[in-house]
Amino acid sequence: MSTTRYLTGITTTGTPHLGNFVGSIRPSVAASLRPGVQSFYFLADYHALVKCEDPARIQRSTLEISASWLAAGLDPDKVVFYRQSDIPEIPELTWLLTCVTGKGLLNRAHAYKASVDKNQEAGRESDDGVTAGLFMYPVLMAADILAFKAHKVPVGRDQVQHIEMARDMGASFNHLYGEHFVLPEAAVDEHVATLPGLDGRKMSKSYDNTIPLFSSRAQLQKLIGGIVTDSRAPGEPKDVEGSALFQIYQAFATPNETAALRQQYADGIAWGAAKELLLEHVDAVIAPMRARYEALMADPERIEATLLAGAERARALATPFLRELRNAVGLRDLRSRVAQTQGASAFGAGVPSAKRLPTFKQYREQDGKFYFKLLDADGRLLLQSTGFDAPKEAGQAIAALKRGGLAALAGQHLPVEGVAESEVGAALTALAEAAA
Ligand code: TRP
Repeated sequence: MSTTRYLTGITTTGTPHLGNFVGSIRPSVAASLRPGVQSFYFLADYHALVKCEDPARIQRSTLEISASWLAAGLDPDKVVFYRQSDIPEIPELTWLLTCVTGKGLLNRAHAYKASVDKNQEAGRESDDGVTAGLFMYPVLMAADILAFKAHKVPVGRDQVQHIEMARDMGASFNHLYGEHFVLPEAAVDEHVATLPGLDGRKMSKSYDNTIPLFSSRAQLQKLIGGIVTDSRAPGEPKDVEGSALFQIYQAFATPNETAALRQQYADGIAWGAAKELLLEHVDAVIAPMRARYEALMADPERIEATLLAGAERARALATPFLRELRNAVGLRDLRSRVAQTQGASAFGAGVPSAKRLPTFKQYREQDGKFYFKLLDADGRLLLQSTGFDAPKEAGQAIAALKRGGLAALAGQHLPVEGVAESEVGAALTALAEAAA
């Protein structure tokens, strides 16, 4: 059975709350236990630096998030669980991707655009207060994903654009340097509830309406007591629609229990009694994890060791992969034969081959269009394409050329002085034979 690799990152800027548990921790831990799945979960602490300049908070959040995931049942033997900043290959890959990423692509990122729009509305300069870190955020995220050849990236809806950008970057690199990257897909779980917070809006740190996942029972009771309700008196029928209390209950109860509460709402349950029920259900789920959480928080050494062991497993993949990528782009050991022969001619060959062969090179020009050319083993130009609107079209033209020869290109190439058609044919034959 082929395994699907899932990868996701958690930014280390806050304390996990019930919304994180329901929306991310619980479904991710469950998903990691499914057969045929390999999971990579990591603490995105480099990403945290973009949003948070408080070192103590970053450290504390990293500890709390790690302890929360482990307490919730994440098995670090099954899942590769690590901290982003322990993987030097990630920032290294970030640079390789930076160099194949159009600045225009990053200009279109939602988070960056939102900052620009806000500045413009306030009459400030567009990039006021915008760091290059915020601008580059999607490239770092693409490196997280592409470094491990993840197939699926479980994320919230707000992150889908980032996954699409990672695909774009991976595809640009592949077109230039050969097929190295798996192009990832976002996995948005439609069934996972977004939990409302105390005030009824989405539970989120930025609204200051959260219930921390590992509150004590007493704290939990106090916070639940503060959930907004309407002013209906005991005995009056109540609406489940738009009731934050009901929605949180639903996330912690079975369908039967939820149906029972729905009936009690209709029968006019008092808000105080409903809150009491909610407290019991949430606490029943949290209490066993809370004990594990507290034990873990008291033992940072153990968490540190777990993360370092995870980083070692992650690097067992990333280190050789980065070696391959460095070679692909031409960051090579000068003593290697590859550097002298392939390197001069086979720009873009990616993987060194024993026999010297003609090569295709794909690239983008100033005019924004995508081109390819065919070079012979010595780097002499044999064929020059016309411009294509998309890298995919250029790739398809190459495929057609390989299959059907020059005729299949239907004129999408320019004459090259001193090159006979037969030379192009011979080069294509050589490539086909090498591939066979
Ligand atoms: N940007 C993500 C968020 O804010 C966190 C993240 C960083 C991430 N790197 C990632 C998610 C890679 C998935 C894959 O939620």
